[in-house]
Amino acid sequence: MPSDLSPIDKAKFVAAKKAVEFVEDGMRVGLGTGSTAAWMVRCLGELVREEGLKIRGVPTSTRTAQLARDVGIEVISLDAAKWLDLTIDGADEFDADLNLIKGGGGALLQEKIVATASDQMIVISDVSKEVETLGAFPLPVEVIPFGWQTTQALIEETLVSMDVMGRSASLRMNGDSPFVTDEGNHILDLHLKRIGDSRQMAMILNQMPGVVENGLFIDICDRVVIGYGDGKVEVRDINAGTIEENMVDFVENDNLFTDLTD
Ligand code: 5RP
Repeated sequence: MPSDLSPIDKAKFVAAKKAVEFVEDGMRVGLGTGSTAAWMVRCLGELVREEGLKIRGVPTSTRTAQLARDVGIEVISLDAAKWLDLTIDGADEFDADLNLIKGGGGALLQEKIVATASDQMIVISDVSKEVETLGAFPLPVEVIPFGWQTTQALIEETLVSMDVMGRSASLRMNGDSPFVTDEGNHILDLHLKRIGDSRQMAMILNQMPGVVENGLFIDICDRVVIGYGDGKVEVRDINAGTIEENMVDFVENDNLFTDLTD
């Protein structure tokens, strides 16, 4: 294992390395966004280049699309793919039912569309993302720019009657300007601390005019692959109810470990 990687990066890498074992020849694969997903795209690229794996990838952001092309993965649109065999993505939090908070990287809308259009979704993560109850990570909500402050006020007002421990929302910034998603929208981060009923929260948020999508992924993820800094990986399958543990063994490979940015 490369010695200059932090334990968290090693954990993300081994989770990604294990998850790509689920990718088979001919699959249409949803490619997630974020630092963990970037490892997965690199690992898949290596399989394409070195082992002739034939896949088509549907990226969930412009930055993932760029990385996928750079590492040699054929990139197609979701409309061209129509349906996907598998999506592999990171998460900001996951609970015991494999419900998720996503959107820390601002790509939740495309990520949710792509994951929902897939036979299976695998989340790759280090163990720090596992929580008993979702909500410590601020919940990202994608809103249209028109009237975003009114949408924020409506959300905060609605939160008053909900089972949460915090009720403020903040506009995500990119330096001095509001963050803009790939779809041209803004993100409100909801500081809820604890979401008592995440299913209800997801439904109520999506009923509000101005809200495009929220970062709660309920009943979408099928498996989580949890990586550890020592190379251990744990694969939990929510449908089969199984938990498997393995060690990921790998040799340092310059193509994988240089210039990785996300
Ligand atoms: C991007 C996401 C990411 O999957 C999530 O933020 C996790 O990112 P990272 O792997 O960098 O911790 O939802 O919108």
